[in-house]
Amino acid sequence: MINNFIESDLTPKQIVNALDSYIIGQTSAKKAVAIALRNRYRRKLLSDDIRDEVSPKNIILIGPTGVGKTEIARRLAKLVHAPFLKVEATKYTEVGYVGRDVESMIRDLVNIAISDLKEIMIKGVESEANDIALNKLTKLLLPLSKKEDNNELTDEEQNKKMNAREQMKARIMKGDFDESYVDIKISSSSNKSFGMLPGMGFEESDALQSMMGSFIPQNKKAKKMKVSDAKKYLLAEASESLIDMDKVSSDALSLTEDMGIIFLDEIDKIASSNRGDHADVARHGVQRDLLPVVEGTTVNTRYGPVKTEHILFIAAGAFHTNKVSDLIPELQGRFPIRVELNALSEADFKEILVSPKNAITKQYQELMKTENVEIVFEDDALDKIAKLAYDINGSIENIGARRLYTIMERIFEDISFYADEYSGQKKVIDASYVQDKMKDIEESRDISRYIL
Ligand SMILES: Nc1ncnc2c1ncn2[C@@H]1O[C@H](COP(=O)(O)OP(=O)(O)OP(=O)(O)O)[C@@H](O)[C@H]1O
Ligand SMILES: [Mg+2]
Repeated sequence: MINNFIESDLTPKQIVNALDSYIIGQTSAKKAVAIALRNRYRRKLLSDDIRDEVSPKNIILIGPTGVGKTEIARRLAKLVHAPFLKVEATKYTEVGYVGRDVESMIRDLVNIAISDLKEIMIKGVESEANDIALNKLTKLLLPLSKKEDNNELTDEEQNKKMNAREQMKARIMKGDFDESYVDIKISSSSNKSFGMLPGMGFEESDALQSMMGSFIPQNKKAKKMKVSDAKKYLLAEASESLIDMDKVSSDALSLTEDMGIIFLDEIDKIASSNRGDHADVARHGVQRDLLPVVEGTTVNTRYGPVKTEHILFIAAGAFHTNKVSDLIPELQGRFPIRVELNALSEADFKEILVSPKNAITKQYQELMKTENVEIVFEDDALDKIAKLAYDINGSIENIGARRLYTIMERIFEDISFYADEYSGQKKVIDASYVQDKMKDIEESRDISRYIL
């Protein structure tokens, strides 16, 4: 099962290609993550003795704001067949107050592995589970008679009953009874009702609750539900009972250890600002806590212990007010691969407007289509938007590709608001339309500071 899960792994070229359809440029960053991913797969194929020796080469992506660091992580997550978690490093800066302890990221990663594997397993037992659910539902809608239950039927009667039951099944499947109601016995998960236990951290009370949950007898309650909902409920119940949860947990643990990836975003925000204030102490603390997790330690989870030494860490940060060298030296050493992302050019902006699969111009076109308004972008409009974004970034504040969004929103303000009046029309966005919508802003840099 695990092997199937990984076998579909992509080659570095395929990974870069897949990222290319969403992210413009940034080739060296794409290559670095692609190689790191492929190395996990290669390591998996090594003999046991060498495999343990090969540790992952963790990466730091460095680049100004809004150039695609987080976007690469987001896309990567959808591509890889491995447990993948994206977290903001800042989430851990307020431990003991609202922040969470650093080890919780490993527990979160295991939870992801569990639900990924469960999903795969559930797919595997789908048809079997379907049969069970359907039989149960048929029995509920067409209960056994006393005689039938006691096996007191003649052969002929028996046959008749069987036929009736088959017909019933076919009709249930067709959805004939979807709007009727049945009584379904559902097990109430009583352990959810504790809430947080006083005097305990989130993690502890979570672990304790799962332990207590298994002591408390599950009482089943009858609930009325529509047949259409009952189908889903019984299917889920049957699937759960068919899959081997022990195997799911042990597979998930080894999958996390060998293939897990953690994307640690905003790592620059936990680097020291050298001001030595209270916040600095918290940041420093998080870095210290991160060390063992990145280097290799054993973290206890509710499914069992996880060794972290082979988990791949990809960190990212803008580092505009500080440098990688402001991280504590031990932590810098755990991230041997540094990749710089480039600032985006005017030409990149134009491409970002149109080429990505989820390009923002396509999004506006689709949104307006729902109002029956057709949007056409002229090429000169795209040039104009790209140039404006580039110029405003240069003169006010560089927020990277995010600038395109603020400009587009401004350009579309009217069309979005009066869309109902334009229904059935075609709206052409050309350079002069853009110019018209943006002229106040272009005239006064002070205004643009507030609006864009
Ligand atoms: N190279 C790019 N290609 C396509 N879209 C991009 C690119 N760079 C940025 N974008 C778009 O701009 C937005 C912001 O990018 P992203 O979240 O990746 O920034 P970031 O580099 O993580 O910045 P920050 O340091 O502020 O976190 C995203 O919605 C993304 O779609
Ligand atoms: Mg980001």
